[in-house]
Amino acid sequence: MNVCFYTLLTVACSILTIPTRGNQAPPGDVHIIIETQQTALVIRVDKDKTPTLVHLGPKLRNTAEYAAIPTNGKRGEDYTGIYNSIYTPAGSRNLLEPAIQVTHADGNPSLDLVYIRHETQPVAEGVVLTKVYLKDPQYPFDVTLYYKAYQKEDVIEQWSSIRHTEKKPVILHKYASANLYIPAQNYYLTHFHGDWANEMNPSEVPLTEGIKLLDSKLGTRADLFQPPSFLVSLNQPADEDRGEVIAGTLAWSGNYQLAFEVDPLHNLRIIPGINPYASAYTLAPATEFTTPAFLFTYSDKGKGGASRSLHRWARKYRIPQGQGDRLTLLNNWEATYFDFNEEKLGALFKDGKKLGVDLFLLDDGWFGNKYPRNDDHAGLGDWQENVKKLPHGLGYLVKEAENSGVKFGIWLEPEMVSPKSELYEKHPDWVIKLPNRSEYYFRNQLVLDLSNPKVQDFVYELVNGLMTKNPTLGFIKWDCNAVIYNAFSATIQNQSNLYVDYVKGLYNVLGRLRAKYPTLPMMLCSGGGGRVDYGALNYFTEYWPSDNTDALERIFIQWNYSYFFPSIASCNHVTDWGKQPIKFRTDVAMMGKIGYDIVVSKLTEPELQFSQQALKDYNRIKQVIWQGDLFRLASPYTNDVASAIYVSDSKDRAVWFTYLVTSRYKAESIAPIKLNGLDPAKSYHIQEINVYPGTKSAINTSPATYSGNYLMTIGFNPQVDTRRTSVVLEITEVK
Ligand code: DGJ
Repeated sequence: MNVCFYTLLTVACSILTIPTRGNQAPPGDVHIIIETQQTALVIRVDKDKTPTLVHLGPKLRNTAEYAAIPTNGKRGEDYTGIYNSIYTPAGSRNLLEPAIQVTHADGNPSLDLVYIRHETQPVAEGVVLTKVYLKDPQYPFDVTLYYKAYQKEDVIEQWSSIRHTEKKPVILHKYASANLYIPAQNYYLTHFHGDWANEMNPSEVPLTEGIKLLDSKLGTRADLFQPPSFLVSLNQPADEDRGEVIAGTLAWSGNYQLAFEVDPLHNLRIIPGINPYASAYTLAPATEFTTPAFLFTYSDKGKGGASRSLHRWARKYRIPQGQGDRLTLLNNWEATYFDFNEEKLGALFKDGKKLGVDLFLLDDGWFGNKYPRNDDHAGLGDWQENVKKLPHGLGYLVKEAENSGVKFGIWLEPEMVSPKSELYEKHPDWVIKLPNRSEYYFRNQLVLDLSNPKVQDFVYELVNGLMTKNPTLGFIKWDCNAVIYNAFSATIQNQSNLYVDYVKGLYNVLGRLRAKYPTLPMMLCSGGGGRVDYGALNYFTEYWPSDNTDALERIFIQWNYSYFFPSIASCNHVTDWGKQPIKFRTDVAMMGKIGYDIVVSKLTEPELQFSQQALKDYNRIKQVIWQGDLFRLASPYTNDVASAIYVSDSKDRAVWFTYLVTSRYKAESIAPIKLNGLDPAKSYHIQEINVYPGTKSAINTSPATYSGNYLMTIGFNPQVDTRRTSVVLEITEVK
């Protein structure tokens, strides 16, 4: 390390006394201090009005000392490039990866941004917004950077807005959401990759000099190959409970790019934003371009601390009803696929009631008449009930379900169209496709052009119409199975605006729907987890992590989503995938919002009895799982078990899950696991739940009352072995 970034590395610096390259800030520099309870982001503006980022890390006790932080992002006096700009403009003196690159109305391809002023004000209880105004000294071109600091949650939400009053449009080639700068000795990036039914596989790689890019060019399904969420751990690889970690995620459901550049000073630059790929955006004079938000949190308590902060933030500020309730449900997708009718559904409603769920969710296949949706080759876009399958219509089903004692919800894929559909015949110009090329299909379908306001109205009216006709409709599953091929809109003038305007159009529709139906539960689905991000989760109460519901696989998938998204939003269904017994499948599904996609009538009597009891117990403990703090205790990647505990805010209740993840024979139970998050001074009672009928708990026979101190220092053995492959323990304070 060639600089001593002492606030991040106090100990290392004081012991090693590494000489600093940077200089202390000269008097007169402006410092913009953006703080949360634990963290600070400090911007310094020098006499030339250049704004630089000099600190992102723990908050200092004495605010005045931020001025003493050395400047880390400049090489020497002979070199004028600034590496730590808060928003690096391209085309003049900055030659590293830019945050913004434009061509002005007169064809000039350069940009400079100087500080004009800033303002800071509270915008809600515990939320402080800082705006930093920047301007090109030569052009009427402005950028405002927004930093929303969520005090208790230690999360910063950053975005920018770009505006000009030049005589003609300006082309924005790149327009990132943020531009962070972090000095450390080493950087380890954990990013995720996957595909259908194989979501969220982690890779941890050291970052070396140069740029690593993560991106999506799929248009609609940002998550399909690699999600826009990451962890960077400083100095050493990420640990669950120790070390400095930055968790970041871009709130955008379309093409994105995350750039990680280790600069010639060995400092890390992070530039997240919309993908510049095929997206040079034409910005008319006096209009404003607002980038999506980049959300990040700094933790000195490892990955666990970072994810707990994001969870708390998301529940309180982002996900609709994040602190409210959710409905358990029975879905018919895997039980029937496209093959159902009113009679079959009527029986499933009764099954749902018998099982004890709140709602029945009718999946794909209920619509289309000229081109009935009997498989995935036809019908998308024709959202009228299929008269053969559902002669009495949806209204009848809603009532029938309610008469059986469950609410009714429905699957939609509103952004899509089948080539075989009346919608396509009527409105070919509503479809994204190139006029002079063959059509390419993804799951036999095409994407509607949501940059077109008429298409936005069509999609809005689809949901609004359903809700108006069926006011008690209780749930919507919003699917999105295709990517954008042959990107071309028959409506918009500048084709390279399409990828961006598509997502803005989608958010426009979702925003209108949320305004009218603020409490409607909606599941975000994209052929599994092809779209899980905080842009979409502004509108959805929950998400579908993967079509892969094999419980063993799901442990890993859920584990990795849990770094960024809270359990209340994770729809975990018990299905017939995999070879695991129903107890294991249920125990895994309970780590989020439980649901079912099984044929209830095929369950054996003990299986049914077990599931009914599990749902009753779930209703008792669900608030702890949904609102509690998550502590990952044993990772399935490095242990024979996966183990995690949710602890209530007041630390009086906890729910602890442990699963065997090895197929090797384990006759002996594994070693005790140290718990986390409890109050050392409290006394706790441990009770096993989800005990399968006819079996005995290995836990419930012992006295099972321990201090939090004991449980977190010595640990407790949940007695998981080859015969007891999953164990759920309910922990309650004994007063
Ligand atoms: C993909 C989803 O992930 C599934 O759950 C199901 O809804 C199908 N689409 C229906 O076509």
